[in-house]
Amino acid sequence: MTPSPRDTGLFITFEGIDGSGKSTQSNRLAAHLRAQGYDVVETREPGGSAGAEEIRALVLQGDPDRWSAETEILLFTAARRDHLERLIAPALAAGKIVICDRFADSTRMYQGLSRGDLRDVVDQLHRLMIGREPDLTVLIDMDPAVGLARALSRQTADERFEAFGEDLQTRMRAGFLKLAEEFPDRFRVVDGAQAPDAVAKDIRQLVEAALP
Ligand code: TYD
Repeated sequence: MTPSPRDTGLFITFEGIDGSGKSTQSNRLAAHLRAQGYDVVETREPGGSAGAEEIRALVLQGDPDRWSAETEILLFTAARRDHLERLIAPALAAGKIVICDRFADSTRMYQGLSRGDLRDVVDQLHRLMIGREPDLTVLIDMDPAVGLARALSRQTADERFEAFGEDLQTRMRAGFLKLAEEFPDRFRVVDGAQAPDAVAKDIRQLVEAALP
């Protein structure tokens, strides 16, 4: 089941390197839109549905070499398919605003760039199994040194990718900015170095411009 391109909701995703403040900002945006009377579904990847949350533990915990790069792409895509089928597509079909912390752009970056150039594999699988891009993607751009310090200070069990270090985060940052140029219609870049209130304000303004 691929959701119809005519679904009536609005699909917003947040992207950025680890520690860029996506989660805080997506919460704030959701609260703001709810206060304005919108029906908002807030979710995240990997995860977001019961099955996808089970896959989340498989991909984010354990030995960094636990999966081959290709298996990892399949797992992230399987999680996304479940999330799309069970949560995102029905919510969009019902006219809701879906705010998702990370989506396919994270796979394009993390799995597409970190262990060799697998971007084409990611894209092919995405076309075959997901086939839906967000209406709007907010990229919170952030200095990797700052992002990494924040991410490491959280110390969760989901640490397979956060152990990657500043080098990879620097490549991810550049990759995300390039992706924003590749998909200019839906990407908007926000300066994550600003105070959180200023970041939230920028995001509110660009989302309001995208609302029907
Ligand atoms: P997340 O919970 O968003 O962590 P953070 O808040 O630190 O950004 O994501 C967990 C990790 O999963 C993050 O390091 C990026 C990684 N990830 C991928 O590698 N591929 C993907 O497709 C997704 C959605 C996430």
